[in-house]
Amino acid sequence: MRTGKGSGEGSAELLIEGVAKRFGEVAALDHVSLSVAQGELLTILGPSGSGKTTLLKVVAGFETPDAGRVLVGGADITALLPARRDIGMVFQNYALFPHLSVKANVAFPLEMRNIARAEIDRRVGEALAMVELAGYEARLPKQLSGGQQQRVALARAIVFNPRLLLLDEPFGALDRKLRETMQLEVRRLQRRLGLTTIFITHDQEEALVLSDRIAVMNKGTIQQIATTTEIYERPANDFVADFVGESNILHGTVSAPGLVALPDGRKLMVDSEAAPGAKVGLLMRPERFSGGGLNEFSGEIVEAVYLGTSFKLRIACEGGPELLVRQPARGTLPAAGTKITVGIDPEAIHVF
Ligand SMILES: Nc1ncnc2c1ncn2[C@@H]1O[C@H](COP(=O)(O)OP(=O)(O)OP(=O)(O)O)[C@@H](O)[C@H]1O
Ligand SMILES: [Mg+2]
Repeated sequence: MRTGKGSGEGSAELLIEGVAKRFGEVAALDHVSLSVAQGELLTILGPSGSGKTTLLKVVAGFETPDAGRVLVGGADITALLPARRDIGMVFQNYALFPHLSVKANVAFPLEMRNIARAEIDRRVGEALAMVELAGYEARLPKQLSGGQQQRVALARAIVFNPRLLLLDEPFGALDRKLRETMQLEVRRLQRRLGLTTIFITHDQEEALVLSDRIAVMNKGTIQQIATTTEIYERPANDFVADFVGESNILHGTVSAPGLVALPDGRKLMVDSEAAPGAKVGLLMRPERFSGGGLNEFSGEIVEAVYLGTSFKLRIACEGGPELLVRQPARGTLPAAGTKITVGIDPEAIHVF
């Protein structure tokens, strides 16, 4: 049994190898492989039903995979009982014991491990201090706010120095402001303890704020695993480009080196080595447009929205695509019907 001496000494690398899980006709996990380095926070981002929770359950031992292995710190734990895996978890719906005090809730995993009373008291105190709930020991869960309850759940998940921390949409029920505060708190705590962590969300902003790397999931498969900037700026396919951030996605054919022909006949200059004849996707983020550039689009504003620091414009281009463009908010919001020309340079277009 490890004791709570240093930080992150229990934390370990996680390897998921070819994990598959079917529920009848549904392939909830279709041979998923990924690794999380020791001390890393990996976010799994994906739409509802993409297999996120199933993957966490396989790691925690609540689902048995049809194929594949799970290794923690090099040891195969695929057949180990959940209680023997030393994994801390926080679920979306708090799942605190309602009849137990805050202190008893957090002490629970330590009691299960037959740790001495004095040591339990010390570690519960430490964990509650970490989530800034010192002084709340005697309260019952129903006497706490939603954010406080999630902090208790977090304290309970880390109090036994878990080898991994798994968080399944832990802030789903919280309002936006509290969510943002909790995101930063989790990040700080995770870094400080050096905890290997998987964080599930279907909120892409949350994923961008929190992660070292993001794994984007769809229909039981991992679409791309990369750093946050990589995912945003160089998505691997349409699904990732569309799911993460606002995007303009066009498809075309490379007509000459550095030139892509769109279906409407328009040609765009791009910064890409793709060979002539290749079918490619083009991603243009709304904020990468300006008043002019090597590729120009003229059209009419069909919708304009004021967003505080920027204007969000939907532009119907003459004979061509509809574009979403963001411009710094200066002057008055242009009216619908206004003619406009915007441009984008080749290096601002991601070719995939
Ligand atoms: N116990 C089960 N029995 C049958 N089907 C299941 C079971 N658990 C999950 N599924 C199915 O497997 C697929 C993946 O479910 P999962 O809960 O992993 O999705 P998710 O990505 O966590 O979605 P959400 O964002 O809505 O929580 C879904 O189609 C779901 O209906
Ligand atoms: Mg889920």
